[in-house]
This record gives sequence, structure tokens and C-alpha cells, in this order.
Amino acid sequence: MAEAEAHGHGGETRRDFIYLLGGAMGAIGAAAFAWPLIDSLSPAADTKAASTTEVDLSAIKEGQAVTVKWRGSPVFIRYRTKDEIARAVKDDKASMPDPQPDAARHQDGKPQWLVMLGVCTHLGCIPLGQSSSDKKGDFGGWFCPCHGSHYDTAGRIRKGPAPKNLPVPDYRFVTDTRIVVGEKPKKAAA
Ligand code: FES
Repeated sequence: MAEAEAHGHGGETRRDFIYLLGGAMGAIGAAAFAWPLIDSLSPAADTKAASTTEVDLSAIKEGQAVTVKWRGSPVFIRYRTKDEIARAVKDDKASMPDPQPDAARHQDGKPQWLVMLGVCTHLGCIPLGQSSSDKKGDFGGWFCPCHGSHYDTAGRIRKGPAPKNLPVPDYRFVTDTRIVVGEKPKKAAA
């Protein structure tokens, strides 16, 4: 095609330019796409600014998870099933190292969407649990194989040496199916 032949001043081809443009505007967030931990679903995510990552959730099916990169760290996004939500809520009063109700782990009345940093709070390994074939630990959420930390379906630490729940970053729903990680949520209406 014609774009293959055109060369820019820096020696790059027009095709290169089109790729760059596609990365910046189409897929949004080039860094996020190249990241190896991204699951099979390529998030229609985009780094609008260095500090935020926009993610299209519409292609993620119930029970699936994707991992995107934000500020150099993995962010786990899971579309929780009703069973996973119910299991987390049922354990709200259970004894745990970093007690937090399930309701404090999600936003905007959308308990199905869990968004967390995928970094174990013990020594920083990336827990397993994003792929359907991964070990998910004794509580069905995530399992850190480095030293055996088990996180539940709300990302709360339940067993093992990690002291804290998987952190929930700032993120904001810009539509029902699109979030921006790195932006504070709108204040809930009183
Ligand atoms: S880094 Fe996860 S259990 Fe140690």
C-alpha cells in the first residue's frame, strides 16, 4: 500500500507513523498493550497521560480478568461472577489481617468490577489468579506463590505472610464500561 513507501524526515516510514498513531489513539496506551501479562483480551486501553490508563471493559466477559499496566505496575481487573461477589460479601465479618468489607473494594454500585494493583503486599511478587488456569488459592481469588499468600475474591489477604489487601488504585468510571485508572472517582451524590 502507498503508506509503505513514504518516508518522514527522520527516516521512519509513513507506516511507522500510522502505527504510532494507532497506538496512541486507537488502542490507547501503547505501554499497556506490549505488556506480557495482558490476558488474551487486549484491553482497548490507552494512556491518555503518563499517569492514567483508560480501559474499555466491554469485551471482558463475566468471570474473566485482564491485566493492564499503569505507572509501571500491573493492574488486575476482574469481572466477578455473582458467586465470587457473594463469597466475598459472606466473609465480610471473617477474621482477616486487613479487615475491609467487600463494598469498600469496588465503586459506583458495580460490585462486579474489581480493580486492584496486582502486586503482593508481602514482597511485591505478582500473584496468580488472572488466568482461568491459574491457582487461585484457598479463597478463590489470587495466590502469590513466592511465599504462599492467599487473597480472596475481593483481593483481601486471608492467609500467608502478606500484611495488606491488594491495593485498590484511584480509578473512575467514565462510562458504564470504561474506566480511567489513576483518576479519582467522582464524589458520590449525597
Ligand atoms: S511476595 Fe507474595 S507471598 Fe511473599
